[in-house]
Amino acid sequence: MKNTFFVTTPIYYTNGIPHIGHAYSSLIADSIARYQKINWKQVKFSTWVDENSQKALDKAEELGMEIMPYLDMMAKEHKQVWDGLNIKYTDFIRTTEARHHKLVREVLQKSFDNGDIYEGEYEWMYCVGCESFKKDEDLVFRNKTTGETFPISSSVKISENIEKICPDHLKVPQTLKEKNYFFRLSKYEQKLKDFYKKNPSFVMPQDRFNEVIAFTDRWLEDFSISRETNKFGIKLPFDETQVTYVWYDALFNYVTVCDTNDFWKNDSNFWPADLHVVWKDIIRFHAIYWPAMLLSAGYELPKNILTTGYFTVDWQKISKSLWNAIDPVEFSAKYSKDLLTLYILSSFNIGQDWDFDQKQAILTYNAKLANNFWNLLNRAVVLTLKMDLESWLSSKVDKYIWDNTKKYFKDYDEAFARYDLKKTLDSTFRFLDSVNNYVTTKEPWTLMKDEAKQEEVKTIMYTICESIRQVSLNLYPFFPEKMSEVFEALNLKWYKEELELWKYNELRNKKETFYIKEKSPILFEKFELE
Ligand code: MSP
Repeated sequence: MKNTFFVTTPIYYTNGIPHIGHAYSSLIADSIARYQKINWKQVKFSTWVDENSQKALDKAEELGMEIMPYLDMMAKEHKQVWDGLNIKYTDFIRTTEARHHKLVREVLQKSFDNGDIYEGEYEWMYCVGCESFKKDEDLVFRNKTTGETFPISSSVKISENIEKICPDHLKVPQTLKEKNYFFRLSKYEQKLKDFYKKNPSFVMPQDRFNEVIAFTDRWLEDFSISRETNKFGIKLPFDETQVTYVWYDALFNYVTVCDTNDFWKNDSNFWPADLHVVWKDIIRFHAIYWPAMLLSAGYELPKNILTTGYFTVDWQKISKSLWNAIDPVEFSAKYSKDLLTLYILSSFNIGQDWDFDQKQAILTYNAKLANNFWNLLNRAVVLTLKMDLESWLSSKVDKYIWDNTKKYFKDYDEAFARYDLKKTLDSTFRFLDSVNNYVTTKEPWTLMKDEAKQEEVKTIMYTICESIRQVSLNLYPFFPEKMSEVFEALNLKWYKEELELWKYNELRNKKETFYIKEKSPILFEKFELE
């Protein structure tokens, strides 16, 4: 079995710094990468910046800067965000790098040589904000006087006072007519359909995959891959008057990072990617264009694409100009990174659209980590310190909790295998609830006072400690720093190191002994609602 795991985030545009929406994709990829790593996989996790874009050029111009100093500055700022969140990427890629230019030119040449790229001329509407061409059905009508908008399907009377605008950017698209090169997507229709059939979970969640399939069922149009007017970007090797446009340039970043020619890293082993994390806006490009482009250039296809939903703040599109772009590093410094991770990964199913609600984030953290988890851990530490330690080392886990543990492991493992992070966390907190209930029912603090009940108390305390140990191992991919502190509280300091040495399964199946010797500082402080 392939013992490598390659996960990618989208490469982010650099006309601004990453906000909480971008952090969502990176935190998903980070938790998955960490889980794979402790599960014996050699992990590659790539991320960073999509630089050859009109948006970046516009922004640099707006700031009166040359493009390269601007891009250098932004790439650094992006990196600071991911480092600030302790995102454990292994590979950083900028699309202005020479290695990327080289690879993209090679694949373009290959597809040109085999007839999949051809010259043509089209007149299309193009929205600079979306960086994409628009068809009528992508636009809405707007009344120039009143500003009112209507769906394109409405029966509004067309007049000089009515214009067609992009519903996201509220701007009239540009009309472009130029020589372009096109990719022969239509040629790959059947191959794509066969591939989807053979790989029924290629795109997750399933409803997104259904949309992709429905789209390919309607018709697949060849798409433009170059611009005559753009001057910044990767030049086509067979026509240097044109630069590649967006998708060839952006998507092949995933292959460039596997093509480093570094013998020791053996990077080529990582392709095909195991998982691309992207949002639904770019799923069509990843699930349709991308496999076709790869087939044309002779590459294997990625295994899975995990599609996230659209995420708003105060039900508004996240945008600098609306002042609702929450900085994930600032937010984590104010509350904690655990609060951010827990809220965004445990409250919403991946794929669902949702609104970031600060109050809800605090309540979730207080309930799940500050109450549920910390209370249990604190009780375990305080009560064990009252006991004669040596005497309960050989205890067993209570049968009732043992049965729950087995079910919990099954739910957790199955959910992680499907990248269903919400379910992995739900199963964990459900299990913690059952352990908390068990403690409340058993009342070990009362039994402790009874000489005749000492054996029972030992079993209860062992059960609690062992449950916390298991939970912390399973929460490690999500909260690595905090779980390392939990290991210390249980006096299992060496766990972090062992996990990084791929010993998760060994630790999970180990019969541990607990020598808790001191009270732990509070690990999960409650936050007040503002
Ligand atoms: N550069 C392209 C991607 C090319 S990948 C070969 C791009 N960049 S982006 O900066 O606009 O967005 C990148 C990613 O950030 C999205 O794919 C998405 O995963 C994440 N998100 C940005 N804003 C988001 C929300 N408001 N909600 C959810 N995800 C968000 O597209």
